[in-house]
This record gives sequence, structure tokens and C-alpha cells, in this order.
Amino acid sequence: MTKAYLLDGKAIAEETLGRVARETAALRARGVTPGLATVLVGEDPASQSYVASKGKAARACGFHSVQHTLPTTTDELDLLALVESLNADPTIHGILVQLPLPKTMNAARVLELIDPRKDVDGFHPVNVGLLSVGEMDRAIVPCTPAGSMIMLDKACAALGRTLAGAEAVVIGRSNIVGKPMAQLLLQRHCTVTIAHSRTRDLAAVARRADVLVAAVGQPEMVRGDWVKPGAIVIDVGINRVAGEGLDASGKPKTRLVGDVAYAEAAEVAGAITPVPGGVGRMTVAMLMANTLEAARRAAP
Ligand code: GUN
Repeated sequence: MTKAYLLDGKAIAEETLGRVARETAALRARGVTPGLATVLVGEDPASQSYVASKGKAARACGFHSVQHTLPTTTDELDLLALVESLNADPTIHGILVQLPLPKTMNAARVLELIDPRKDVDGFHPVNVGLLSVGEMDRAIVPCTPAGSMIMLDKACAALGRTLAGAEAVVIGRSNIVGKPMAQLLLQRHCTVTIAHSRTRDLAAVARRADVLVAAVGQPEMVRGDWVKPGAIVIDVGINRVAGEGLDASGKPKTRLVGDVAYAEAAEVAGAITPVPGGVGRMTVAMLMANTLEAARRAAP
């Protein structure tokens, strides 16, 4: 029997996607159809599946959706040329270059070429800067942290808590999740600690948290005894690990787990996100919300 309030990513994402679809219909009635272009380089199966789900969600929201798939051997200059053509295309409001790019490419150079107004991932240094100075009307906020904040607000509403003054610990300092998540928590008046692989006594630091965000990419690293009783736990990890037995085609089964040992943590936490069915769902929903917002800002 778990005690924690379960934060249902599927349900919360569907709520967001429903809002985006309704507002898209209203924008289309004014003659503007949000357009999202995804760019996938190579054949990484996880990236293929992420990009496919982004395209599917875009179509379901009523967007114009285009997908560019390029071979691993693509010359970086050709990728840069594609980004420039999407920057110049008035039917495209959001450009998403799926990461990781092949090691031969300079990902920073590619991301920095994206027009910041079309950077629906929120990875461009202009958007990173706007987030850090709190210019939220102009910033585009990275999708996973933005979705995590919505889930946190749901948890606070369910538990009767407020974020202001709370101790928040973010484990992980990536540009995609850890750092922007810390910025968002700070804007909501949390006392924020960013912990990482070099943090001394990580378990003790985690135990201080009223809000614990795990974004390290280490399967089930956060144990039940790292969680303060009643804490809100947001698990951003999506890790594929060996499962039990073989699948229909005779291959060893795999399963998805988060960065948090869910069964243990759910015994202690006040609210928790599952994996799968947690934050991952929100990432796609927020990408749609960001694309709609980019289209609105571009509308005459
Ligand atoms: N790879 C893993 N997560 C993401 C993401 O949020 N955006 C992009 N572009 N690539 C990713």
C-alpha cells in the first residue's frame, strides 16, 4: 500500500493538450495555424519514438506538423542549412532538433542557429538568459521543467501546500532539466539546492527537501530513505533496464524505471510521479503549449 498522492502524468498532460487544442482552434479561426518542425538525425530508437510521439501530438492539437529525418552521416552544414530554411519559413513557429545529435556534430552551434522565437525546446542561450532574468513573457521555458512545475502545482493543491519558502532540492545540473528547473523553483520562492554527482552526502541533502526533483539518469538511485516524509517527489528519469524473461521475438525484455526507487519512495512521500506515466507525458504536452505560444507571439 503506497501512501503518496499519485501525480498522474497522463491525465494532467491530457488536460494541457485539451487546452492547447481548443486554443489552437481559436487561433486557426483567426487564420494562423501553429506549425512544428521536428528534425531527427540518425536512427536512435528512443529518439525515433520521442519524435514520433511529438508529431502525433502536434497533429492531434491541430498543428501543421513536418518531420525531417536525416541520416547519421549528414554533413553538419546541411543540418545548419535546414535550420536556416525553417527559420525563414513563415508556416513554422516551432523547431525541435532532437538530441543527442551524432558525436561528429557541434550541438551548441546547431541549437544557437535556431531563431530564439522558434526555439520551442527553450535551449537557445537567449531563452536561457530570459528565463534566468525572469522575462517570462518573452522566454520559452524548456518543456520538461515547465511540465514538472505544473505537476508540482497539482501536488501542492492536493496536499494544501505552498511552494513559497519550501526547501527544494534538484538532483542533476543539466542544461535541459536541472538548471532551468532550479530557476523556475527560485522564481516561485523556493530555497533551491542543485545537487549532482560530486555532492557530498547526497542522501542527506535529498532528505532536506520538501520538493525533491530527480533528474540524473541513474536508474532508481534515489532510495526511500532519501525522501523526507511528506515530500513531493518529481522523477524526471526515464531509464531502460533489463526486465524478466523474453519478449515475443525472443529478445530479453526491458522495462522503464525512473531515477527514484518508486515503491520505496511512495511509502514515504506526500506525492510522487510514476515512471512511465509521469513527467514524460508532460514534456510532449509542454512542447505543444510552447509551439502554440510561439505561433501566438508571431501572429499579426
Ligand atoms: N532529447 C531528450 N530530451 C529532449 C528534449 O526535451 N528536446 C530535444 N530536442 N531533445 C531531447
